[in-house]
Amino acid sequence: MRAVPHSLFFAQGLTATRGTLRGIVRDMPRRPPEPSPALRLIPAHPTLPSARDAAKDCRACDLWKRGTQTVFGEGAPHARVLFVGEQPGDKEDVEGRPFVGPAGAVLDKALVETGIDRKQTYVTNAVKHFKWEPRGKRRIHKKPNLLEIAACRPWLDVEMELVKPEVVVCLGATAAQALLGRNFRVTRQRGQLLPFGAAPCVLATVHPSSILRAPDDESRQREYELFVDDLRVVARALHGRKAA
Ligand code: URA
Repeated sequence: MRAVPHSLFFAQGLTATRGTLRGIVRDMPRRPPEPSPALRLIPAHPTLPSARDAAKDCRACDLWKRGTQTVFGEGAPHARVLFVGEQPGDKEDVEGRPFVGPAGAVLDKALVETGIDRKQTYVTNAVKHFKWEPRGKRRIHKKPNLLEIAACRPWLDVEMELVKPEVVVCLGATAAQALLGRNFRVTRQRGQLLPFGAAPCVLATVHPSSILRAPDDESRQREYELFVDDLRVVARALHGRKAA
């Protein structure tokens, strides 16, 4: 078994506070979460392929019972940008790949506009099984809870550790709160490059599916443009850092 420091669980969230004592105390977990059983599955010397393989058998929470398969991250093994979404959707669950459905199409379009090549990025999710409930013949997305997010966290940690991105981008509140603390508000702090433990910086923006849910064309377009603006911050940061 691979020893991932338990302190990792406590380190989460501190960056969002920007170091103020009140913020740090506010973000501290009330009760230490149990180490996730997923930790036991991570190979001693993981690689992305071996971690992906191990994640296929993950039973760290009950979501494996509902999902078709584990949807592990994919992309360039040493991508400069790593995107974190919430969880696979219906199409991702069937195909076994992240962001290949409607939200992925929005992300792809915005990436093209900002000059970020998706093939040069790594794309993953905070939770790697699709959580859904039936509504008629449809499978309706259900938000993962904190225990499910914590149970899945070792997989995200190992992905970040192996890819070593320069910028982590949180797509939506679930990813942002998983990485930056429960008090992080995407509405207030979106588009800002913040210091981060697992990469030189992190930026949070909205989830592309929230753009699709906008009530009319005009607000959808406005939300999309704001999303592109946030990704431009990432593109500029990468440009400023130059490829290693
Ligand atoms: N939404 C996500 O958060 N991730 C996906 O992979 C697809 C939709």
